[in-house]
Amino acid sequence: MKDLTSKKLMKMWCDFWTEKNHKQIKGASLIPQDHTVLFTTAGMQPLVPYLTGKPHPQGTKLFSIQPCLRTNDIEEVGDNRHHTFFFMLGNWSLGDYFKEDAIKWSWEFLTSEKWLNIPKEKLAVTVYEGGEGIPRDETSAKIWEECGLDKNKIFFFPKKDNWWEMGSGIGPCGPDTEIFYDTGKPSCSKNCNPSCDCGKWVEIWNNVFMEFNIETAGAPLTKLPKQNVDTGMGMERVVSVLNGYKSTYQNDCFEDAINQLEKLSGKKFDFENKDAKSFAVICDHIRASVFLLGDEKPTTPSNVGQGYILRRLIRRAVNSARNLGIDAKCLSNIAMCFINFYKEEFNNLWVKQNFIITELETEISKFDKAIEGGLKEFNRVIKTLKQGDIIDGRVAFRLFDTFGFPFELTEELAKEKGIIVDKLGFEEAFSEHQQKSRDNSGAMFRGGVAETQSDEDKIKVARLHSATHLLHAALRKVVGDYAEQRGSNITPERLRFDFACDHKLTPEELSKVQDFVNEAIKADVEITCEETDPQTAKNSGAIGIFDNKYGDKVTVYTMGNFSKEICGGPHAKRTGELGKFVIQKEESSSSGVRRIKATLE
Ligand code: GLY
Repeated sequence: MKDLTSKKLMKMWCDFWTEKNHKQIKGASLIPQDHTVLFTTAGMQPLVPYLTGKPHPQGTKLFSIQPCLRTNDIEEVGDNRHHTFFFMLGNWSLGDYFKEDAIKWSWEFLTSEKWLNIPKEKLAVTVYEGGEGIPRDETSAKIWEECGLDKNKIFFFPKKDNWWEMGSGIGPCGPDTEIFYDTGKPSCSKNCNPSCDCGKWVEIWNNVFMEFNIETAGAPLTKLPKQNVDTGMGMERVVSVLNGYKSTYQNDCFEDAINQLEKLSGKKFDFENKDAKSFAVICDHIRASVFLLGDEKPTTPSNVGQGYILRRLIRRAVNSARNLGIDAKCLSNIAMCFINFYKEEFNNLWVKQNFIITELETEISKFDKAIEGGLKEFNRVIKTLKQGDIIDGRVAFRLFDTFGFPFELTEELAKEKGIIVDKLGFEEAFSEHQQKSRDNSGAMFRGGVAETQSDEDKIKVARLHSATHLLHAALRKVVGDYAEQRGSNITPERLRFDFACDHKLTPEELSKVQDFVNEAIKADVEITCEETDPQTAKNSGAIGIFDNKYGDKVTVYTMGNFSKEICGGPHAKRTGELGKFVIQKEESSSSGVRRIKATLE
């Protein structure tokens, strides 16, 4: 179908499934409920409890447009088809219809004039050939034939091709039937078929017949209580192949962003040109960042977990902007292109635009400053090198240590010039340095504690400092993990704490936060401290901004189960010493950052 835009496809998807009496479920957060994976990577992920038997409040026939993020191919983004962020269109039967309706509806959506109107000659399907105690899927093959698909366009393949399970290998799973589109490329051989990767056949949709479950890693298949259907269609890919585009970045959702980038850089986006990679990386990574920041559980840049991925996405985009000769600050204009584009389907982005843009700009300028100096040094280093040469690991380490230039960036920039970086040498230099600073550690940064004078004041400050930790923990519990510390200032009279948050706290939230702190005080737990390395601290769940500033030894302060945080002290001895914690004021500090002032009485 020519002129199929992503907007049109989203609308058609909604109209089609509504006509088939399906209920739309809201796209779930990119941050999954279950913590075994960092991100939502498929439309079915939020439905796992319902696929395994729990009744869904919206019924047994559902569909969605699910934002997904997959980071395993992050390095590949920039060719003409890889993305980290994409939309998966999906429909589900939770113990309702099974193979017959699922396949017939897929066929109707793909081939009917009213919908995608794909000529049936352009389609082929694959089905499960059987094995592992599960019979050959003759049923699906027969239904495809009944739909009108030629028998020679139906291929039987083994488990490696026609079985779908989650990345972890645990959870609901089953044989699938995959639908392929003929791009019109010549066959690569007499045996050219949808399982080869010559590019003639592109998978556009997958129907999984989920009637099995794997409960724990390596456990045998068990039958689910009901037969379910789970389907997934990658929206960007479908728009691109049906239009006969050469790149998945030729898509209406990237149009404004690419226009802006062309204007700013004076370069043309052409997927065969060497600059195409930078265009694509910016488009993909900034779109992903916008959705992560605007999510109902927002991720903010940090050095751990999802925050680290976001930091990496933004930093890679900054680097690509530099490659195009664009001031990285303009990336917030690119973010606005996506916020505008999706404002109807994903209004949350529109509502949270200030938060999204502020966070993005803060991260960009932080990184921009760091690389400014590093880049000069990098260029000096490579001046005398030629293609095939190697950058010494110690030199890469100096770039990292002195200029804050990330190793990946050195590697990436070197790769562009055909130069190799000695990674092992870098790692060696890194651990040597760690050893050295371990030997003279002790210089810990202090958590925003103002210099104080008298002993009495010192005690007051220590108590307010402990209360600050409890407040930080309370905010993360009540508001969400993204409510990270943005600033702290303590005088003997009061504490002041700034944290990431996109809204004014409600009276309920404020009273929950205050109660949490006072409960921790009432519990009168001992405040213990322990020296360890940043990695162990991070693994133990301690909070803190894991920047290089920590050096190699950190002190973790623990207050029972209430709080565990990296910090240089000073603190009270027990939470019981703190008295009564009272929030005096909650106000805006800057865009996307709130401020709490509190006292101990
Ligand atoms: N869960 C089906 C798919 O991701 O293809």
